[in-house]
Amino acid sequence: MKGIILAGGQGTRLFPLTKLINKHLLPVGRYPMIHYAIAKLCEADIRDIMIVIGKQSAGVYMDYLGSGHDFGAELTFRIQEEAGGIAEALLLAESFIPSGDKFVTLLGDNLFEDSLAGPIAAFGQQRGGAKVMLKTVEDARRYGVPTFERGQIAAIQEKPKQPPTNYCVTGIYMYDSSVFGVIRGIQPSARGELEITDVNNVYASRGTLTFDVLGGWWIDAGTFESLAEASRLTTKKTRRTEECTER
Ligand code: DAU
Repeated sequence: MKGIILAGGQGTRLFPLTKLINKHLLPVGRYPMIHYAIAKLCEADIRDIMIVIGKQSAGVYMDYLGSGHDFGAELTFRIQEEAGGIAEALLLAESFIPSGDKFVTLLGDNLFEDSLAGPIAAFGQQRGGAKVMLKTVEDARRYGVPTFERGQIAAIQEKPKQPPTNYCVTGIYMYDSSVFGVIRGIQPSARGELEITDVNNVYASRGTLTFDVLGGWWIDAGTFESLAEASRLTTKKTRRTEECTER
């Protein structure tokens, strides 16, 4: 399977830091934010990766990542001209995914502990459609929130004022290539973006949206508070990893 990392958007919630540099290049612990998504895909043995970036700081991505050699990955870049939404960014990767293939998509500001190897293998066995990773959270209003019926996701509400459950749909998505047709069929939301939640709701209504729940920590590092927390969590993890290596 191939992987796609979405790192476009404007990062307005992290302004003025993001006036200087793109959100996904901000330091999180020892690395720039983008490092973690690539490392997570490589951990699951996904090494053919497209990164969709904005125009801002495009050269800095090359400075840090190059061809992907240091990760043992092969990186391809695509530019999203304007922040037209997560689903619009995903559509830019259409030619990267052979027709009929399945792939994994990560939002570049999502950092997490669990390995994706198991859920990806399960999605590989799934007949088609889509799979999302969920996480229980305290502040579900910030996210896409699912409702369930007979153990399946019935629908997802984007940033509901009164969340129906305390689950959030994380920015870890798996699709087959039918998703590009689905994206073409949706309309921009009130904020003028092609919403990934509208895409996922198409699969939910077809009964082909499965889910798994993350057990370890997960964070959307898109605000100052969560960026600081992400640094704390990843530094802790890095130290633990180093301790293991030293032993
Ligand atoms: O983090 C999980 C949440 O991510 C989900 O629960 C929501 O359903 C989903 O809509 C999304 O919400 P956010 O408000 O966090 O999305 P944000 O606009 O912050 O964009 C998240 C990432 O998506 C960003 O780091 C890069 C990518 N992106 C976003 C936009 C708007 C793009 O590549 N292009 C874009 O135009």
